[in-house]
Amino acid sequence: MDYFHRDGGELWCEDARVRDLAARFGTPLYVYSRRTFVEHYRKLETAFADVPHVICFSVKSNGNLGILRTLAAMGAGADVVSGGELHKAMLAGIPADRIVYSGVGKTRSELELAVASGIRSINVENVEELRVLSEVAVALGRRQECSLRVNPDVDAHTHEYLTTGRKENKFGIPLADAVRAARIAASLPGIALTGLDMHIGSQILSPVPYRMALEQVRSVVGNLRAEGCDIRHLDIGGGLAVRYDTEDPMTADQFHDEIIALVRVLGVDLVLEPGRFIIGPAGILVGEVQFVKEAGGKRFVILDAGMNDLIRPSLYGAHHRIEPVVDGTGPLVQTDVVGPVCESGDFLGKDRQLPSLQRGDQVAVFTAGAYGFAMSSNYNQRPRAAEVLVDGAVATLIRRRETFDDLVRAEIDL
Ligand code: LLP
Repeated sequence: MDYFHRDGGELWCEDARVRDLAARFGTPLYVYSRRTFVEHYRKLETAFADVPHVICFSVKSNGNLGILRTLAAMGAGADVVSGGELHKAMLAGIPADRIVYSGVGKTRSELELAVASGIRSINVENVEELRVLSEVAVALGRRQECSLRVNPDVDAHTHEYLTTGRKENKFGIPLADAVRAARIAASLPGIALTGLDMHIGSQILSPVPYRMALEQVRSVVGNLRAEGCDIRHLDIGGGLAVRYDTEDPMTADQFHDEIIALVRVLGVDLVLEPGRFIIGPAGILVGEVQFVKEAGGKRFVILDAGMNDLIRPSLYGAHHRIEPVVDGTGPLVQTDVVGPVCESGDFLGKDRQLPSLQRGDQVAVFTAGAYGFAMSSNYNQRPRAAEVLVDGAVATLIRRRETFDDLVRAEIDL
């Protein structure tokens, strides 16, 4: 579900013409529909209203302050994985007691920032981290609430790079080691072990892996409680899928109904860490056609947007729907939509059926709100795109286009 639609022969974002946005802000341009992500957030809120819970938006999916601020105003928390994400979440006004921090390689200074900020929970991924965290907390005169992130060894049936809960993945503590870790936690003065955490992967279409993982986690909760741990919250991570092409993802209600029985019996506060589900469908990337080239029996539409702006097609072979901003004419032609970056892996879509396109036309790449701008780079010394937030007919620039000066700002010229 999203608020992008076609009317009068062209694409709209809510009540704003995408063509006008491209003219006003230039391309490549990320355009976000506020109504879309607000609704997705609310759908999850409503679905889980029957259990104590907090929805911690996964900042890695989209860390723009304007987006974070909008979600903060609605009561969202944040899931962060670095000091930088923690900094931005707090800058956006997300209260520390609604922030959870996961990640396999937190540095001492990141742990110091997290403890000093008083965040809700640190999701600890190994025993050594428990010891460092305890030292840090004691030095700051604190006792830090934390959760053990366990690895339930479940296949989420997603892209191999997006699965995180199999035993061969680097994430979490093996289930069999959870009790030992809890005993160590109990002996450490800076640690209050009050939760369990899991995150089994991303773009997960089926409830089955969640249920399998939760059944494992449920028995760990029992084991830890038997050890005397006061387990009060359970973080079930993110991972809910969205539709890029023809997938049939779960709705918030379906997800709730599939898992709630397994969670409710535990009598815990629930933490959810959705990223893509909230912001994925709310963003498009708009690029302008620079050239149309026929070569080797193929038609290439070459945009001013490329893999540095949206790397998902190149990195994961991800499919993002592509449409001309203004309805095209003529028969559909098989087309590769590519960028200007000097790599053959620089494409946004291959073998797409698209109408006739010419220099100056614009195209929209859909479902680019999550892991789009967030994973963009300056590769080929390309300034990163601008980002615009649309609310009804009003469009607000929430990140200006980078300039050549930005490209050298952090460098020290000899
Ligand atoms: N929590 C943790 C601990 C995570 O590692 C992640 C994502 C999330 C929550 C949010 O997952 P989501 O609800 O968005 O699926 N770059 C990839 C996605 C990598 C996800 C990494 N972790 C992509 O473009 O598909």
